[in-house]
Amino acid sequence: MKEKSPSIQDSLKPIVALCKRRGFIYPGSEIYGGFANTYSFGPYGVELKKNIKDLWWKFFVHGRRNMVGLDGPILLHPKTWAASGHVEGFNDALIDCKACKGRFRCDHLIEDALHKSADGMSLEQMTKEVQQHKIRCPKCGASDFTEARVFNLMFHTHMSKTGGNTDIAYLRPETAQAIFLDFKNVIDTMRVRVPFGIAQIGKAFRNEITPGNFVFRVIEFEQMEIEYFIHENEWKASFEEWLTSMHKWCQLIGLNSARIREKEHPKEQLSHYSKRTVDLTYDFPFGSSELYGLAYRTNFDLSRHAEFSGQSLEYTDPDTKEKFIPHVIEPTFGVERTLLALLCDAYDEEVLENGETRTVLHFAPTIAPVKVAVFPLMKKEPLVEKAEKIFKTLHHIWHAEYDESGAIGKRYRRQDELGTPFCITIDFDTLENDTVTLRDRDSMQQIRVPTNKLIEILSEKLNVGFYENQRITS
Ligand code: GAP
Repeated sequence: MKEKSPSIQDSLKPIVALCKRRGFIYPGSEIYGGFANTYSFGPYGVELKKNIKDLWWKFFVHGRRNMVGLDGPILLHPKTWAASGHVEGFNDALIDCKACKGRFRCDHLIEDALHKSADGMSLEQMTKEVQQHKIRCPKCGASDFTEARVFNLMFHTHMSKTGGNTDIAYLRPETAQAIFLDFKNVIDTMRVRVPFGIAQIGKAFRNEITPGNFVFRVIEFEQMEIEYFIHENEWKASFEEWLTSMHKWCQLIGLNSARIREKEHPKEQLSHYSKRTVDLTYDFPFGSSELYGLAYRTNFDLSRHAEFSGQSLEYTDPDTKEKFIPHVIEPTFGVERTLLALLCDAYDEEVLENGETRTVLHFAPTIAPVKVAVFPLMKKEPLVEKAEKIFKTLHHIWHAEYDESGAIGKRYRRQDELGTPFCITIDFDTLENDTVTLRDRDSMQQIRVPTNKLIEILSEKLNVGFYENQRITS
C-alpha cells in the first residue's frame, strides 16, 4: 500500500478535529486565514512532542555508552550543501497544470493516475508518461501540463544586509550535516572512540511541492538523528543492530508493531549518499508510509566535507594507529511523524454500554501529555482543599491537572480525550478514611487507594512499560 495523494485527508479528519478541539495542534497563522502546511503545537501537543524527544534522548543517548549530543546551527556555511550534494541533487520533479496553475510532484501524479511507480524515471520519461496517458489534473480535470522540471527543495535566505543575490544561505533540510561539520570538534574535545555516535534533535526545512496529510509532510519539522561513526568493515553488523534498536524504540513508545514494516530501498532508488537504506513504515489511515529511515551513508559526507573544506577529517585508531575516514550508519526519526503515528494508534471511539460514544487516546503512560488528573467530586469544601493538597504533591512529580468544574463524568471524558492514564477523585469517603478513587483510562475501572500510597502506586503504574522496554534494550 502506498501513500495516497495529499488531498486525501478524510481518514484523518476525526484526529485533526480532536487535535484542534483539545489543544494538540492548531493550523498555523489562523487569525490571518492560515498559512498553508504550517502548524502550531498547542499546550498538549508540545507536551507530547517533549515526551517523545526526552524519551528518545534517554533511550538513544543516555541509554548507550558511546553516544554524545550536539545542537548545531540551522544556518550552516553554504559550502556545506554543495559538499553534501543537496544543491545539485535534493530535487523533486515538478509539473504544473497550465489550465488551473495547480502544481504537483510529477512522480505522485503518475503513481496516482497509472498505479505504477515512477521511481527512477528521468524528467523526459515522466513528461512522456503524462502526455501519452493524457493524465488529468487532480484539481481541474484538464490534461494540459507543462514539461516536468527539477525543483530544489531547500529553502534559502540572504545573509547580507543589502539582500543581494550573492550571499545565499540555506535553511538546513536535514540536521545530519551539522553533525558532520562538528565531527572533528567532537573527536578533538571528547574522549570518544570509533564506534561512537553523535545525536541531535532539531528543526529541518523542506520546500515540499505537495505537503499534506496533516503533519505527515510539512515544510518545517523536527528530526531526531544519529550519525554513528564506524570502521567500514563493521557496517553490516552495525546496520542490523540499529534496525533492531529502532524497532525497540517503536515498542517503547507503545506503537502497534503490527503496523510497522521494513521497506528496503531498491538500489536504483537510493539517495546519492547511501549504499543501503531501510525505511520503517507505519500503516497510517491514508496508507503505509515512511515513518523512520536507516541509511548506510558510507564515508561520503565526511570525505566530501574534507575535500570542500580542505581539513583532514581522518580518525586515528589509538590501538592500531590506522588512519581512516569513518563510515556512517544513520538512524533518522521525524518528530511530527512519530506524533502522528502515536495519535493514529491511540485514537479510539468506543461505544459504551449506555450507548454513548467515548473518544479516547490510549497513549502509553510514558508518552501521555498529562499523567494524572485530580478532581474533587464537587466544588465544595473540604473536598476542594483536600484535592488541592493532593494535586500540589503530585504535580511536582508528574505533569498533572486539577479540574473542579462540571459534572465528574464530563471531566473524565475530557481527560480520556487527552489520553491521561489516571484520574483521582476526592469524595466524601476520602474525608472519612483518607482514601481516593483511582480511575484507569482504558478499563474505566476505579479502585480505592490510601492517599499516602498514591505516589508509590502511580510510580509503578506510570513507569511499568518504560522499565520493561528499557530492559530489553540492554
Ligand atoms: N538525514 C537523512 C534524512 O533527512 P529523510 O528520509 O529525508 O532522511 C528523515 O528524513 C525523516 O524525517 C523521515 O523519516 C521523516 O520521519 C522525517 N521527514 C522527512 N521529511 C519530512 C516532512 N516534509 N515533514 C515531516 N517529516 C519529515
